[in-house]
Amino acid sequence: MIHLKTEEEIELMRKSNRMVARLLEKLKKMVKPGVTTAELDAAAEEFIIKSGGIPTFKGYAGYPACICTSVNEEVVHSIPGNRILREGDIISIDAGIKLNGYCGDSTITVPVGNVSKDTEKLIRVTAKALEIGIEAAIPGNRLGDIGHAIQTFVEGQGFSIVRDFVGHGIGKEMHEEPQVPHFGRAGTGMVLKEGMILAIEPMVNAGTHKLKILKDGWTAVTVDGKWSAQFEHSVAITANGPDILSEL
Ligand code: MF3
Ligand code: CO
Repeated sequence: MIHLKTEEEIELMRKSNRMVARLLEKLKKMVKPGVTTAELDAAAEEFIIKSGGIPTFKGYAGYPACICTSVNEEVVHSIPGNRILREGDIISIDAGIKLNGYCGDSTITVPVGNVSKDTEKLIRVTAKALEIGIEAAIPGNRLGDIGHAIQTFVEGQGFSIVRDFVGHGIGKEMHEEPQVPHFGRAGTGMVLKEGMILAIEPMVNAGTHKLKILKDGWTAVTVDGKWSAQFEHSVAITANGPDILSEL
């Protein structure tokens, strides 16, 4: 079932999502050669607790950390640990916070120092893909319009869009209906309505869209070892158009 949110609930969702945005700003500044992903997670936990929030990811289906830190060929859900960031790497940081009973969820991809031109393009195209998906999140459009817009753009840039993981509705629960594929056909799927809040989170791969899961049971990596980037925003669908809640 789809939970349509009232204006009051949308404002509560903005509070938790802005807290995530502030956290991501802080973590972005920490990203430098020599830093470990565990250090980023420790800083995230401290920030969330001090701010009066709850780290939604921790304990979710047994996930052991507050953020996901996916480096280079890691696509999504990589557990922070002793991996040391090196000049030229990219890291996607996915963070979730529950505040006053409502969930925030957002992801950014950050370059570590100077990265190659190709890698810069991967990051730029992924950020743009999210923007294009958000533009399609308007009442009367269908879910497939979001996926189609993203897929068409990404493939036109010579990259591939991940199929195995999708976006989602978000509210009191981090994962609510509907699922939000970042690929698909225009004019198909559920009609978007005012009051829906969707987490749109395209993962874009430099090579094949195919993934495999590592032995830790969480980390998804590209099967060809080529790199992947991701951006995510939680977005309310309103009569005035898409309202990006996870933006400062
Ligand atoms: N932002 C991720 C998502 O949208 C969060 C999943 S991490 C988990 O699915 F550990 F909480 F599962
Ligand atoms: Co999400």
